[in-house]
Amino acid sequence: MSTLLARRELAPKIYELVVESGRIARKAQPGQFVVVMAHERAERIPLTIADADPQAGTITLVVLVAGASTLELSQLRPGQSLYAIIGPLGKPSQVEQVAQVVMVAGGVGTAPIYPIARAFYQAGSQVITIQGARTKELLFWTERLASVSHRHIITTDDGSFGRRGLVTEPLREVLQEDTERQIGCIYAIGPAVMMKNCVRVAESFARKIIVSLNPIMVDGTGMCGGCRVEVGGQTFFACVDGPEFDGRLVNWDLFISRQKLYHEQETCLLMQYSPHESEKPSAST
Ligand code: NAD
Ligand code: FES
Repeated sequence: MSTLLARRELAPKIYELVVESGRIARKAQPGQFVVVMAHERAERIPLTIADADPQAGTITLVVLVAGASTLELSQLRPGQSLYAIIGPLGKPSQVEQVAQVVMVAGGVGTAPIYPIARAFYQAGSQVITIQGARTKELLFWTERLASVSHRHIITTDDGSFGRRGLVTEPLREVLQEDTERQIGCIYAIGPAVMMKNCVRVAESFARKIIVSLNPIMVDGTGMCGGCRVEVGGQTFFACVDGPEFDGRLVNWDLFISRQKLYHEQETCLLMQYSPHESEKPSAST
């Protein structure tokens, strides 16, 4: 069992959890994830390792409350234990020596982008980050991302902070400006439709783009087939073959339709979910 050491609400329905796990913290590399279970009967939830501190023996996870399971997880209190946590899982990001990289983070995708951006920054690449959210209140880790970026562009859909619009607009501009083709790598992490549209932009400039796929996962170890995705006409398991893939080769329509498979059931469960009064979060925790 791993103890939850800290919990912070970053934005509405988005929580940062710092979890004690020395073994995972020592092994974790950018791009990898864990599968957690809040209690014995809980669903298994895959979450990217957004940060790791090997000295302190902690990892940082960011949870978006999207259903009953993530709601349950987000309501744990510091001092409580997670029933199970396995990882690090998945293949680490390939941090290449390139002059420039562009990191596109959409919404909660900010959390998984951060350790990858930091790895490229520490490897000496010029890092351009584009961070988008629907509105100012949903932005988080802006300073953290800026600290590993040489250029940091923020967008909000409604224009309440930074530039008005979607992340794809500055991506297009940055690629237009790059006439000497210094940008050797683009990463996009966020909602599937955002990643799909970032891929379209990258393709229009004949650039490679890596995306991180988050299909439905169960065991996270290649056994159940739940996370299968089609990439380049072949079937892969995102948990062991990914989660990162060449975005140009992903069958996006299939990926998006499979992501929605249990949407109705999730919505029903969330509506039925009613935590005990004492389990409801207070504003200060
Ligand atoms: P969101 O819907 O608020 O969108 C965030 C930003 O993405 C927007 O501000 C916009 O700039 C961009 N975007 C959205 N739709 C776009 C479009 N059609 N074209 C271009 N850009 C677009 O994001 P959210 O609510 O934080 O995201 C939640 C989703 O992100 C969940 O469904 C979750 O599965 C996914 N997610 C994916 C990963 C991953 O590893 N791929 C990690 C975390 C979250
Ligand atoms: Fe079961 Fe990937 S989650 S095979």
